[in-house]
Amino acid sequence: MENTIQVRPARRLRGEARVGGDKSISHRAVLLAGFSQGVTRIVDLSPSEDVASSLRCLQMLGVPVERPSDTEVIIRGRAGRFAQPPGILDCGNSGTTIRLLSGLLAGQSFTSVLDGDDSLRRRPMRRVIQPLALMGAQIEAREAGYAPLVITGRSPLRAIVHTPEVASAQVKSCVLLAGLQAEGLTTVREIRQTRDHTERMLPAFGVAVQKESLSVSVQGPTVPTSPGTLRVPGDPSSAAYLWAAAAALPGSEVTVRDVGINPTRAVILDALRRMKADVRVENVRLWCGEPVADVTVRGTGNLVGLEVGEALVPLLIDELPLLAVLSAVSAGTSRLTGAEELRVKESDRIATVVTNLQRMGARIEEARDGWTIEGPAELHGAELDSFGDHRIAMAMTVAALLARGESRIRNPECVAISFPRFFEQLEALRD
Ligand code: S3P
Repeated sequence: MENTIQVRPARRLRGEARVGGDKSISHRAVLLAGFSQGVTRIVDLSPSEDVASSLRCLQMLGVPVERPSDTEVIIRGRAGRFAQPPGILDCGNSGTTIRLLSGLLAGQSFTSVLDGDDSLRRRPMRRVIQPLALMGAQIEAREAGYAPLVITGRSPLRAIVHTPEVASAQVKSCVLLAGLQAEGLTTVREIRQTRDHTERMLPAFGVAVQKESLSVSVQGPTVPTSPGTLRVPGDPSSAAYLWAAAAALPGSEVTVRDVGINPTRAVILDALRRMKADVRVENVRLWCGEPVADVTVRGTGNLVGLEVGEALVPLLIDELPLLAVLSAVSAGTSRLTGAEELRVKESDRIATVVTNLQRMGARIEEARDGWTIEGPAELHGAELDSFGDHRIAMAMTVAALLARGESRIRNPECVAISFPRFFEQLEALRD
């Protein structure tokens, strides 16, 4: 039977929360820990299904993984040499798992097969296949560009200088991880800045990283060494739903503690400020090279629309559906351009946002590379669909909180891909 959840409008949200560890940082921490020399303890690991996919793949590659608790993991690294997996590496719904792991497997002297769910099988993989093939790996893919991928590694790989056609942290990270196993200097020249967690984490594993504006290089071959313990900041892309709901509901005040504010991720806070939300960042600290803070958002009830263009898209990529929801209830015209990348995420996020928001009475028009929204609209409760995409499920739940009347959301369980306790934590903040 199909699962649905009923969401009532909210008057306001008040209180404090801690969200799970950052999903992007957690993927990198577990993959590097599994590949490195030594034992790594990772604290405040993301409880997401996506990171569980990375851990499951590592276990198939002969990496011993202990789970003292839900939020902690102890990983004994394989010092640069994985074991040939006994079966298919199931990456589930996780684009980060398949793309980053491809980089590591490209330098291993065996053949492995990576696959995932129906959504992952529709995500473009040519963007990683092409540079890894130039480095010397042999990769076969369905229709030359989709999972399952069959990777026969080569050791050592050849170093390359790569300029990805799309601004993607997953592609950058894939090539840098392959670069650890390449003879010489591997460089990624980005067309636009994307999240920089890989570059920040590699030095903790003893790998020198050269950075020059939009270029990042690593010298190989090298085996990373475990830093001992890593602590993962709270995920700003999860916190964003709580902040956005607070921003739109007058009288709200929500504080998220110990949350990551890396400048390549916390652009959502600037976006909220530009929309005239009241945002306070306090108690800034550094955890393993990543800035962390306590962030409070207060609802003023007078939000204004926002223009987002190509330059900011990679830095707001996961928050764009949520910004569409806020824009629908904000005064004036909001426009998103240069965001065709949204069409190849877990769902076609331009189509799934537009379909859902139109059902609620928002004035939103679809464009090839984004949308235009005229606000403020008074949203009404509606029958909504997650389309199996976690970020659509959560963005539409926020929309339902802001609407008049109840909404129902189909297939809400996919929130567990990134934020398993989303509904519970949101309910706890209702006032
Ligand atoms: C991620 C990068 C982004 C983002 C995804 C996680 C990462 O994808 O959308 O949720 O961990 O590197 P792209 O880099 O492909 O845009």
